[in-house]
Amino acid sequence: MKTFFTWTFVAILCVALAAGCSHKTKEGSGNGHIRIGFSMDSLQLERWQRDRDIFVQRATELGAEVLVQSAEGNDSVQVRQAENLLTQGVDVLVVVPHNGEIAASIVDSAKRQRVPVIAYDRMIENSDVDFYVSFDNVKVGELQAKYLLDRAPKGNYILIGGSPTDNNARMFRQGQMMILDPAIKQGDIKIVADQWSKDWLPSEALSHTENALTQAQNHIAAVVASNDSTAGGVVQALAEQKLAGKVLVSGQDADLAACQRIVEGTQAMTVYKPIRPLATRAAEAAIALAKHQPVPSNTKVNNGHKDVPSYLLEPIAVDKGDIAQTVIKDGFLKVEDVYRNLPRSQWPASPASASKVSASAP
Ligand code: GAL
Repeated sequence: MKTFFTWTFVAILCVALAAGCSHKTKEGSGNGHIRIGFSMDSLQLERWQRDRDIFVQRATELGAEVLVQSAEGNDSVQVRQAENLLTQGVDVLVVVPHNGEIAASIVDSAKRQRVPVIAYDRMIENSDVDFYVSFDNVKVGELQAKYLLDRAPKGNYILIGGSPTDNNARMFRQGQMMILDPAIKQGDIKIVADQWSKDWLPSEALSHTENALTQAQNHIAAVVASNDSTAGGVVQALAEQKLAGKVLVSGQDADLAACQRIVEGTQAMTVYKPIRPLATRAAEAAIALAKHQPVPSNTKVNNGHKDVPSYLLEPIAVDKGDIAQTVIKDGFLKVEDVYRNLPRSQWPASPASASKVSASAP
């Protein structure tokens, strides 16, 4: 009997110790409120400023404090900033990695300090990351390619990928090729250039497109640009050859400049990703993880190390015909900004009363 009690006591002690060891308790932050470290690749693009603002707003509403750091595209700066956030005692780390592989070292450091990590919008590969929240990125690529192929079923295509260090860029390309491959095999379309754009820079997309246009003697039906910043470079290269508006160009993010190009006719489409549900969900997930509460997920995504519990949102293809009923109606962008360069007579009658509504706000 004595032995039974002794072992029972030892077992309870072990569980208590294990619980104490495996969780960084809330009290660790001193005053009982949650501190979130938000380590961002860059704030250069319009979309990331929106992500930051909505994330901070939601976290603050829920009583948490957010420490935001932006590495402006520099891996060692991002690693250093993340270490710094950990030193400051954040309870949870949310990371938009510049390089999805290098950022694994951030997860390692956080895990050593028992701080949970969320991969925001971009996966952190080969790491023990706790949660991933993003859009269905393969679907983004599919929407881009399908839009172009439906309208340009034959001819020469240029592929302008994003940053080669961004896992999303590879998923966009995967989705694009799922749509384009059958048409390539049938000989309907031909890929005349296939390039990646370092850090998603418009200047990279510009020079890739200039070179491709020269090689193809300007015979191009469509350019699959993987986002709106690269689409900007593509349209500039097309404009130099008086081809802007004659060659179909895709995009992604519903950036203001891209939406202006769409209504003006030089970019065919963008993929609209409502940021509010993404940033809101990430803020809620961060707080839940910090409190060791369950986080709702709708899928798992393998990152090379494990199946990461994930929440993926649906992207929406948008063109001139439905921009008023989606991007503008949601309040993501204002009609007077999108249509700024066009005469009033060309503005949509009343986007606010448009009948087709997308599900989510910015
Ligand atoms: C991707 C992201 C896109 C785009 C791009 C450039 O990872 O999913 O929405 O913003 O980065 O920043």
